[in-house]
Amino acid sequence: MRFDIKNAGFSRARVLSVAKRLSSSIESLKRTDGYSGELASFHLPFDSGLLKRVERAISEKRALKPSLLVVAGIGGSNLGTIAVQEALAPGARVRYADTVDPDHVGSIADEVESELKRGRRVLLVVVSKSGSTTETIANFSVLFRLLKRYRKDAEDCVVVVTDKGSNLWDYALQEGFLSLEIPKLVGGRYSVLSAVGLFPLGFLGVDVRSLRKGARVMRRRCEERYDSNPAALGAALLYLNSKAGRNIYDHFIFSKRLESLGKWYRQLLGESIGKEFDVSGKRVNVGITPTVSVGSVDLHSVGQLDLGGPDDKVTNFVTAPFNRSLRVPSSKALDSLVPNIRGKSYSFIMDAILEGTATAYRKLSRPFTRTHIEKGAFGVGEFLQWKMVETFFLGRLFGVNPFDQPNVESYKSVTRKLLRHQL
Ligand code: PA5
Repeated sequence: MRFDIKNAGFSRARVLSVAKRLSSSIESLKRTDGYSGELASFHLPFDSGLLKRVERAISEKRALKPSLLVVAGIGGSNLGTIAVQEALAPGARVRYADTVDPDHVGSIADEVESELKRGRRVLLVVVSKSGSTTETIANFSVLFRLLKRYRKDAEDCVVVVTDKGSNLWDYALQEGFLSLEIPKLVGGRYSVLSAVGLFPLGFLGVDVRSLRKGARVMRRRCEERYDSNPAALGAALLYLNSKAGRNIYDHFIFSKRLESLGKWYRQLLGESIGKEFDVSGKRVNVGITPTVSVGSVDLHSVGQLDLGGPDDKVTNFVTAPFNRSLRVPSSKALDSLVPNIRGKSYSFIMDAILEGTATAYRKLSRPFTRTHIEKGAFGVGEFLQWKMVETFFLGRLFGVNPFDQPNVESYKSVTRKLLRHQL
């Protein structure tokens, strides 16, 4: 992965003076070797037992030859899977049942039923750290009831990923489902490299070994001294820009299949840094609003606002190698419509658009960084790990806990109370 910060709005010396404050956090990361502390999630790509358990579960369920995979989960329990699957296995036969939108889940149920009616199997993976998220359990129960209606081996067609000891864990034991554990101290939005992401992704054919390798390589880079550490530099820049009134962080992604990687990050940044109180209990109400734009599509929607509107954003332009190549026909007639595109490759045109955009940002002193993700699962693994460590560092700079989500918990508990009182 390449990360270029020279147009990020602050001198290198200024960025380094903030990044240096992360030296003790970098040391904590270096010492992390297990699941015991709050940095537990950074151990995931080094856990070889986890890989073995996940690969064993994948072989067992592949032997059933399911024709469709359905993941029931929401937030940290499915955003990472969606992001990596769309980036690396875009045509995979998978559906995601997340919210309780009857149109959405009803259409998944129709598809599941049509597979079952043809005598095929559907594999249902239910992912919930707490094991008690309203939407996930509702969706699971609708889909499991369908499996039971059509198949005697319905229980074999379910995999549960949850915390050991959750109600869902106990239920899975009772029903005889295959269960995979999420380590206690690995939080939802940091869990993509646990069984939460590895099981469905590996099942769908993503090279999870390379994904983990990319994450391991990136963790080592994030253990380097602050002045050559991409997570420390990224966090320092976001912090400085936020203090300068730029509280919107846009991922401008020039690759459509990576759009959901931006959405995964939206949760990571939003939930980790958006906090009412700091670690000492003082009310601070801090946060940076994450947004996602797709290049070049959104140049035609929010481009005017980005360049001409308020100077309240910092942008990360993200690129990655395309999988396919395409060329504009070389017909001379095109010259009268748009000059200089005939015979050109799409990636050449996309590069020209990106360079044009970056130049416009530079001229108007709109701060931006550039990130280039390497090809394949290795590159995606690097990106995921980089952003998770960067978010941890950013939490330290803001003085907030990047691993909790007290306000999400409060909405969940009010929902449960309301459900008790209504018919
Ligand atoms: O980051 C988080 O912890 C949340 O967004 C959760 O991932 C989300 O609420 C789903 O929770 P659970 O995995 O417990 O079903």
